[in-house]
Amino acid sequence: MPHFLKETDFDKEAIQRIFAQALEMKVNRAETPNLLDRESWGMLFYKNSTRTRVSFEVGIHELGAHPVILNVGNMQIKRGESTADTAKVLSRYLHGLVIRCFDHSVLEDFAAEGSVPVVNALTDFLHPCQIYTDMFTLAERWSGGSYDLVESLAGKKLAFLGDTASNMANSWLLGGAHLGMEISLGGPAGYEPGEEILALLKKEGLEDRFTFSSDPLEAVKDADVLYTDVWVSMGDEAEAEARLAEMKPYAVTAELMAAAKTDAYFMHCLPAHPDEEVTQEVLDSPASIIFDQAENRLHVQKAILGELVT
Ligand code: CP
Ligand code: NVA
Repeated sequence: MPHFLKETDFDKEAIQRIFAQALEMKVNRAETPNLLDRESWGMLFYKNSTRTRVSFEVGIHELGAHPVILNVGNMQIKRGESTADTAKVLSRYLHGLVIRCFDHSVLEDFAAEGSVPVVNALTDFLHPCQIYTDMFTLAERWSGGSYDLVESLAGKKLAFLGDTASNMANSWLLGGAHLGMEISLGGPAGYEPGEEILALLKKEGLEDRFTFSSDPLEAVKDADVLYTDVWVSMGDEAEAEARLAEMKPYAVTAELMAAAKTDAYFMHCLPAHPDEEVTQEVLDSPASIIFDQAENRLHVQKAILGELVT
């Protein structure tokens, strides 16, 4: 049973197919093939969402299937029903499951206990749909109109600022290394990549492919992209005050943008918090491609679902 739980679940050839299909679906949205014709896909959310929830719901519909929105708050999970039983039961109705949860092991349990494809819609550990979308958004620009989308990313440098121990940072370490990008982390001491991501990188043969610096200027030097994310991720609320103080030097400002390459892009998975991790000036600047990223979630996720079922 194919699943999409992490960035390396598809090899480079499959990612190239996904990107090419996403481009095709973007250009000819109204002609989207019914790859999930008459199916029903569940969307199980343990956490809040705007982009992921809407882009998957619309995308599943456009692929010819019915999206079933499942909020954990009003399911029997909330009253103690096990992940294993829930996965087995849902597999009897649904053709696939898109899941956003806290602990990555819950996602893995759904994949192991159920019998339908499972897609990671964000866990505390990884956010692969976002990373594939972001890489596609860059490839659209760097491929120069050719179909060498994946190849166009190799050797490019992305600097990730702020919460360098987050799911987004982890996903960049894994996805970036998988496609030959150079990932430079700029964050406070104590926010170096954790043991879990280091072990996974090693398992995938992708260790030692990144740098970490507590000096934001050093981290962004020669970068083709500056990327940031919220400083207080879902689940980290109790640490909010300390995090905002520790991460302040890593805010993406016009001055920090100027320390990267002159044509560097600014990216953010959103939601953004202006005057925390990034200034409004940078969000609104010509370098900012944040809304293209948000739009591309739709096209890339449709292509991911298509790749999983074909
Ligand atoms: N970027 C992202 O996943 O946004 P949502 O939390 O709104 O889904
Ligand atoms: N790191 C953020 C990403 C939100 C899309 C979080 O997990 O809350």
